[in-house]
Amino acid sequence: MKKILILNGPNLNLLGKREPEIYGSQTFEDYLLLLRKAFPEVSIDYFQSNHEGSLVDKIHEVGFDVEYLGIVLNAGAYTHTSIALHDAIAGVKTPVVEVHISNVHAREHFRHHSYISPKAAGIIVGCGLMGYDLAVQFLLKR
Ligand code: DQA
Repeated sequence: MKKILILNGPNLNLLGKREPEIYGSQTFEDYLLLLRKAFPEVSIDYFQSNHEGSLVDKIHEVGFDVEYLGIVLNAGAYTHTSIALHDAIAGVKTPVVEVHISNVHAREHFRHHSYISPKAAGIIVGCGLMGYDLAVQFLLKR
């Protein structure tokens, strides 16, 4: 069975209790159960880290594995700061879809720039957790 990795960056472990007016009140673990049920044809792996280097390591680990259709990456605040993540995505073969739960363009100016976007196969912004569904659909169909 083909695989997709969902890779969440810093503070996304707090989903459900972190700023629920922006990010909703569902935990990612609860959402992931529904997502896996919705896409039984693919094995959805999940990894979250608050550490930039661990995210880079994970991209390297999966990025040359032909079993993976792609990586769905919400790099959290590292989106706006990390040249290392930009380079990691540029350096691997697996396509990366950038997802943001909130509409970053309707928020603070420092969230408007992404180091991920120039290397992303697609970008989904502001659709809530449904953005992960859309990214999985895109990777399955592209
Ligand atoms: C986020 C948006 C980022 O600006 C923020 O730092 C996050 C979450 C989102 O999913 O909306 O941690 O990536």
